[in-house]
Amino acid sequence: MAATSGPRLDYGIDAPRAVFALVVLGAASGLAALCMGLGLPGLPGGLAAATLAVLAADLLAVAAAFLWYSRAGKLRQRDRLLDLLRWGGDETVLDVGCGRGLLLIGAARRLSGGRAVGVDIWSQVDLSGNRPEATRENARREGVAGRVEVWDGDARHLPFADATFDVVVSSLVLHNIPGQEDRRRAVREVARVLKPGGRVALLDLRHTGDYVRVLRQCGLADARRLPAGFFFTWLFPLLTWGAVRFYRVTGNKGGRSTGTVSVYKSGNLVTDSQRPTQGGQLPI
Ligand SMILES: C[S@@+](CC[C@H](N)C(=O)[O-])C[C@H]1O[C@@H](n2cnc3c(N)ncnc32)[C@H](O)[C@@H]1O
Repeated sequence: MAATSGPRLDYGIDAPRAVFALVVLGAASGLAALCMGLGLPGLPGGLAAATLAVLAADLLAVAAAFLWYSRAGKLRQRDRLLDLLRWGGDETVLDVGCGRGLLLIGAARRLSGGRAVGVDIWSQVDLSGNRPEATRENARREGVAGRVEVWDGDARHLPFADATFDVVVSSLVLHNIPGQEDRRRAVREVARVLKPGGRVALLDLRHTGDYVRVLRQCGLADARRLPAGFFFTWLFPLLTWGAVRFYRVTGNKGGRSTGTVSVYKSGNLVTDSQRPTQGGQLPI
């Protein structure tokens, strides 16, 4: 599917205010460390200056990592997440918290028939320039506007009947819902709107083990969690003191818990192997 030429696609900056705060805090800490290092009167130096310099470097590195994710990394993650699903081309797909259409449009590009539906509450805090018009414009530029629908709706009360979708996807949405019970409600909604045999693929940076548990309770017995790549699953937690660790979560409604462990490399399935599991549970 060829994209229309013209201004480049813009899927927005994730958590723009948090990124701005990290830049301001990082710059202020760096400046303070510099003043302390220069031995300005009345300021501590030595270890305190070095500690502040390390903090400043870390805050700026996290801001840079988030900006890089928003501009380049999220496109790579989108393709790897969608690669985990089997595609026939005529699926009905739901993107929960579609924002400016990252997964929605990526999924629509894989369809020859079918349709891709995005639902969102359009939070400006979670994504810059977050509006349904921006999503439709991106879909038009990608040449998939005819297969894309954009709806208003909350992940905790999806405005769709049971068993409507063949595929449900979502990226960096559910952790934004405050409160464990509400996040679990949203995961149960994902399972509810899936058809029997339907597939789910989620990407998130917190609570992913809990999503797996809830999906299994909702009949996706083969739900599992996969690392999202070296940078996202191992380096991000180092930079963020463990606060951010990306994982992908996949499962099939009605899928059986066989103990099969899938191994993926660069988003591609390398092998499916039988492995004994502890207490009959699949590893999360
Ligand atoms: C970080 S953005 C990610 C957007 C898009 N999925 C992407 O990856 O580019 C988070 C999105 O989740 C949406 N969101 C947050 N809470 C939501 C809720 N309860 N129901 C539906 N969408 C929600 C926000 O409006 C925002 O579009």
